[in-house]
Amino acid sequence: MTAQAPDRERVVAGRAALELRGCEVRFGDRVALHRVDVAVHAGELLAVLGANGSGKSTLLRAAAGLVPVSGGSVTVAGGRSERADVAMVFQHVHLVGRRSVLDNVCSGGLGRLPLRASLVPALFPRELREEAMACLDRVGLADRAHDRAGRLSGGQQQRVAVARALCQRARVVLADEPVSALDPVAAEQVLALLSELAHAEGLAVLAVLHQPQLARRHADRVVGLRDGRVVLDGDPAGLGEAVDALYAAEVPA
Ligand SMILES: Nc1ncnc2c1ncn2[C@@H]1O[C@H](COP(=O)(O)OP(=O)(O)O)[C@@H](O)[C@H]1O
Ligand SMILES: [Mg+2]
Repeated sequence: MTAQAPDRERVVAGRAALELRGCEVRFGDRVALHRVDVAVHAGELLAVLGANGSGKSTLLRAAAGLVPVSGGSVTVAGGRSERADVAMVFQHVHLVGRRSVLDNVCSGGLGRLPLRASLVPALFPRELREEAMACLDRVGLADRAHDRAGRLSGGQQQRVAVARALCQRARVVLADEPVSALDPVAAEQVLALLSELAHAEGLAVLAVLHQPQLARRHADRVVGLRDGRVVLDGDPAGLGEAVDALYAAEVPA
């Protein structure tokens, strides 16, 4: 059924889909990111872990071009703009609850339409609706296409947000605590979906996760932040206690 999944070793070995090099972000006098290096490759789910205030959201926002970096660089492979190639998924789902699930997914593709056609859902072209339907099918929700988005469960709404990112044809998905508001079963489903999309379709997924256990189960690689610095980067299975130390009050001497 999975047609021609890309050879994972090959895509991972290639150029990074998203690369932050020596990134520094300041808020006034406060340095929120200190020379951070992070690369995410097509075909992998990279989890970002760290205590509250360690800079996880700032890292994602810098990657998306939503906060300026005062040093270093952010590179998105693919040749289009960051805006087109990078999609964001948030903890609290940003869907228009009174519109249909399908219209919400279509909105991911509006950047490709002329302005007039993008303003009125009734004018969305058939090709966009068909593409959105295929994206919904990909997340297992084609049968809910015509329901109002607000009627879906939290986990289903988060999968609709993922379908919207697919309809945007994003190559990089940045997810800031995408499962923190979900019950454990829905959280597993959404992470399994993100990981499958990374592996089967070659998306580069960077997800901030609240629980190390979820990272161990679903991530291909883990980056740990502490006080705005990358303090670990590796295979989730091999990191062991180093992950738990991210949340300790003091760095062990
Ligand atoms: N817009 C902002 N203005 C000022 N300080 C900010 C802003 N956003 C984040 N910070 C500060 O930057 C640091 C990192 O925040 P954040 O990236 O939100 O951490 P995390 O997502 O890991 O909890 C914190 O000290 C936070 O207070
Ligand atoms: Mg945060």
